[in-house]
Amino acid sequence: MIHSVKGMRDILPPSSAVWNQVETCARRIFKRFNYREIRTPILEETALFARSVGEETDIVSKEMYTFEDRDGSSLTLRPENTASVLRAYIEHRLDQQPGLQKLYYIGPMFRRERPQKGRYRQFFQIGAEAIGSDSPAVDGEVIEMVAAILREVGIEGFELLINSVGSKESRARYNEALREQLKDLAPRLCSDCRRRAETNPLRVLDCKVPEDQPIIEQLPSILEYLDAADREHFDRVREYLNDRSIPYTVQPRLVRGLDYYARTTFEITHDALGAQNAILGGGRYDGLAESLGSKVPAPGIGFSIGEDRLVMTVEQTGDAGGSGLDLYIAPMGDAALRHCTLLAGDIRKLDVSVEVGTERKLKRMLEIANKLAARFALIVGDDEIVTQSYSLKDMATGEQDTLTRQALLERLANSR
Ligand code: HAM
Repeated sequence: MIHSVKGMRDILPPSSAVWNQVETCARRIFKRFNYREIRTPILEETALFARSVGEETDIVSKEMYTFEDRDGSSLTLRPENTASVLRAYIEHRLDQQPGLQKLYYIGPMFRRERPQKGRYRQFFQIGAEAIGSDSPAVDGEVIEMVAAILREVGIEGFELLINSVGSKESRARYNEALREQLKDLAPRLCSDCRRRAETNPLRVLDCKVPEDQPIIEQLPSILEYLDAADREHFDRVREYLNDRSIPYTVQPRLVRGLDYYARTTFEITHDALGAQNAILGGGRYDGLAESLGSKVPAPGIGFSIGEDRLVMTVEQTGDAGGSGLDLYIAPMGDAALRHCTLLAGDIRKLDVSVEVGTERKLKRMLEIANKLAARFALIVGDDEIVTQSYSLKDMATGEQDTLTRQALLERLANSR
């Protein structure tokens, strides 16, 4: 038997309905904040991610699905979408469009990580990017929007962590300070960290090895290395969140596992998720567009929600919704079946979902109606066809009403 590839899943009903539900909620909120959809290709040139996400990150150094195309070029299945959105922004000169470019996307990403609960090799992100302003008000609005999406899908009790990783210059000074300190400490760290201590000391803070944590705790905080402009920017972001009563915790170790960040970074976690508790991550990436070849500066900020984890949280804590079936019709005999398929057509025009049974035995059909959690069942025999009156059963209460065809249609239309 052929199985799906390790770390890649089929999304089956009824879970697929929850996926649709969260996507609908997200699109609704994006519209309210004036974001429009962008769809980028799933394959990109490998250099795009190497240059933006960073050679030293786990994503680029260990996790990408990279292969040589038939013409010898190196292609990669996108491990994230911010780099692709920026590439598209530059390629299509979106900087010439009026105002901020506020773009959102929903789609699969690929990282060859060790699969576990909440971590897959193909996973989905719902993300957004606001490109063209370095104003802290945009950071505030982006965070306000992501909190609105979580509330719209019914998630409460999440925790917002924020930090500032400063401008490129502040970060360079911090990196130097880390490099200095790590001269003594690195020999006690894991082999990855010993390498990072040389090449990109900031990445030591991403280390997940438990034995390394007490040593990493001793390293200085990035907040001590921010310059005046960075500090002012971070203060304004917090002021925006305070004004809107959005609770947060400042987490100075939150440097995030991608190299393109500058200034604001943030994550939202939820206890229902277990070890992989980050529902989403994001941050500002001023300077990224220039490093990808943009002639004009294009400061920006965005986030990506892990949709797999969002759905898991909704299924565990929120209202994941019912089966969605409104009516199960049980026809008794061939003439009734023929009549019912036409009746079902009329009912579906009312946007009511209908399933017509094709079993021979009424008992069996009612069992199926029960298992499908249908809200109503309708039993149709020869008498009903002649009299054009129907008996509608409310499956939750067991109540039964005899209705004319017209009354039946009205009742079902009003029941939605
Ligand atoms: P990221 O932190 O790498 O950021 O990923 C964002 C979210 O994607 C994570 O918080 C997590 O929920 C989900 N995620 C990541 N890897 C996996 C996986 N293997 N399985 C399941 N879910 C996963 C980014 O990707 C940035 N592009 C975010 C961003 C947008 N920054 C600025 N704009």
